Amino acid sequence: MAGDKSISHRALILSAMATGSSRITGLLEGTDVLATASVMQQMGAQIQRLGDGIWQVTGVGPAGLRSPEAALDFGNSGTGARLVMGVVAGAGISAEFTGDASLSARPMARVTNPLALMGAQITANEKTTLPLRLAGPPMAMPIDYVSPVASAQVKSAILLAGVNAPGQTIVRETPITRDHSENMLRLFGATVDSQMQGDQHIVTLTGEAQLRATNIDVPGDPSSAAFPMVAALCVPGSDVVLKNIMLNPQRDGLIRVLRDMGGDIEICDERRQAGERVADLRVRYSQLKAVEVAADIAPSMIDEYPALAMAAACAEGTTYMAGLHELRVKESDRLSAIADGLRANGVTVEEGEDSLSVSGCGQARVAGGGTVESRHDHRIAMSFLVLGLTSAAPIGVDDTSMIETSFPTFFSLMEELGVSFER
Ligand code: S3P
Repeated sequence: MAGDKSISHRALILSAMATGSSRITGLLEGTDVLATASVMQQMGAQIQRLGDGIWQVTGVGPAGLRSPEAALDFGNSGTGARLVMGVVAGAGISAEFTGDASLSARPMARVTNPLALMGAQITANEKTTLPLRLAGPPMAMPIDYVSPVASAQVKSAILLAGVNAPGQTIVRETPITRDHSENMLRLFGATVDSQMQGDQHIVTLTGEAQLRATNIDVPGDPSSAAFPMVAALCVPGSDVVLKNIMLNPQRDGLIRVLRDMGGDIEICDERRQAGERVADLRVRYSQLKAVEVAADIAPSMIDEYPALAMAAACAEGTTYMAGLHELRVKESDRLSAIADGLRANGVTVEEGEDSLSVSGCGQARVAGGGTVESRHDHRIAMSFLVLGLTSAAPIGVDDTSMIETSFPTFFSLMEELGVSFER
């Protein structure tokens, strides 16, 4: 399975900030991550591709980053843009942040607000969207921040800004979000404490951290695995093994929900890699049944709702998903993109402000026959291609080019499983 996108971004960023040379294997070579590699290079890190997924990064050490001459272009990547805002804020340098049309419509105030508290100066439009300029103070101030949104990107930006700050930078979040930044900061030698107090997750980073180069073997991306996984559950006769999938507890919500729906997903050969739990997954065709998906599981499967909605369309009964407000501000408004695409293919859907009900077709197949607007959103494109594997009539997707951002091997992997796409 292609390398995890979240871990790939963080591996490049932290190795570029560290002292010494790090070797990264299994790096996801999607355009989102390649954009992060190139902006870290613009700020002074030496980054070299040695082979397929194998990269060497020589970092600049504490306070070694320099202000880039040209604007930093993050393409479609919210993770890259938001995490690097934290890096720039903490490095005492300044940079202009730009991105494509989808990224330029996404909210950045959630990150610039706490970074301003740490001393950063932000020059932006009224909506605080890209393009914007961020100038870090000579020395960032540590903060104790209660995050108003459950977002790993916000938490990570603050922690990255806190690496060079004197004292302890604290982020409090409810509920807990993916903790890859905490795990990887520890791998690079930083002191990061993480504890639950009731339902609040409190992360404390000790500043003026001496990051030291380390080697990272990036595990497979569960968010990409979601597509062949749902395909295998929905296409009669399937029996597929997906190798080397990361099962971080803040990323495995989809597997839990699909199992509740009756999905036959076996977790085999559990092991640890790059500080994360990893396993192979054996997935077999299953007659899925509708479930209610509670809001509190959302952070552990926030990118997987498009894939889950396709499984729900194939299940018996009506699946209700709550707590989906964050889907409105992803690479597209995913709630409306899912609802429109399903309706165009004969599935009954109810779209609430932050919820979705999908009436599954069960034994009868999804009608299909519609063309889906992917809205420049990789996960919308892949989801409907997967639904098209089981629909009575084929499903068209208007543009699949964005799949390159997160899962460049999607087509070849699906073809290996026996799928043929008409292009
Ligand atoms: C990510 C966090 C999530 C997720 C994104 C990757 C990360 O975003 O949707 O694809 O790597 O930190 P939010 O922090 O906005 O929830």
